[in-house]
Amino acid sequence: MIIAIDGPSGAGKSTVAKSVAKRLGFSCLDTGAMYRAVAWQAIQNGVDLEDADALGKIAEEYPIEFGTVPGDPSPRSVSIGGVDVTQAIRTAEIDKAVSPVSATPSVREALVRQQQRIGAAGNYVVDGRDIGTVVFPGAEVKVFLTASAEERAHRRVRQNADRGVGSIDYEEVLADIRRRDEYDSSRAMSPLKPAENAVHIDSTSSYIEEVIDTICKLAEEKGC
Ligand code: DC
Repeated sequence: MIIAIDGPSGAGKSTVAKSVAKRLGFSCLDTGAMYRAVAWQAIQNGVDLEDADALGKIAEEYPIEFGTVPGDPSPRSVSIGGVDVTQAIRTAEIDKAVSPVSATPSVREALVRQQQRIGAAGNYVVDGRDIGTVVFPGAEVKVFLTASAEERAHRRVRQNADRGVGSIDYEEVLADIRRRDEYDSSRAMSPLKPAENAVHIDSTSSYIEEVIDTICKLAEEKGC
């Protein structure tokens, strides 16, 4: 079974995905981390972020791997080309670079293929922007998770402070979230938009536990 969770940056997708997976005994696939890893590799290689051919080659040729620990559905680490980039992909530099990288069709084609291969291997909670529309259009459960830009900026600041990476300046984070919303929703290929049959959940003023309960109930209704 696939549970697809799409939505804008900072809506709480990855936190919710991890908890839902843990409760249901599913694995987690964070597709944003894959786009971030390609952006990181492109910067390492000195690739121009407008060079679609070079970006596509990186996505094709550099293996992305998630490091898991037995009994825990959420990967602890992510690597590209054998280099651990778990922390390195969460910086403000990558937040900016990942937009043009994820708008590149050849990158999307390569990563979508990998995501489909991973998801086919078992029960997954997959979070991203195009999971219910493009990657797994047949997903049994589709959720479109949103929250106001201001609430998402507050959450991102807290998360960055906890992790010790990324900006903790609220105005800077809010501006970046708005920029990415605009970019993700207006790009030509696989723009951020809800699947027709997605259940919309606004998490602005609800507790994360309520969101998790709602998604687990949806999965139970589908026989999970
Ligand atoms: O979820 P995130 O912030 O880690 O995603 C990083 C970037 O990758 C974000 O700018 C949107 C993009 N992305 C995408 O285009 N498609 C996905 N399935 C996941 C992320």
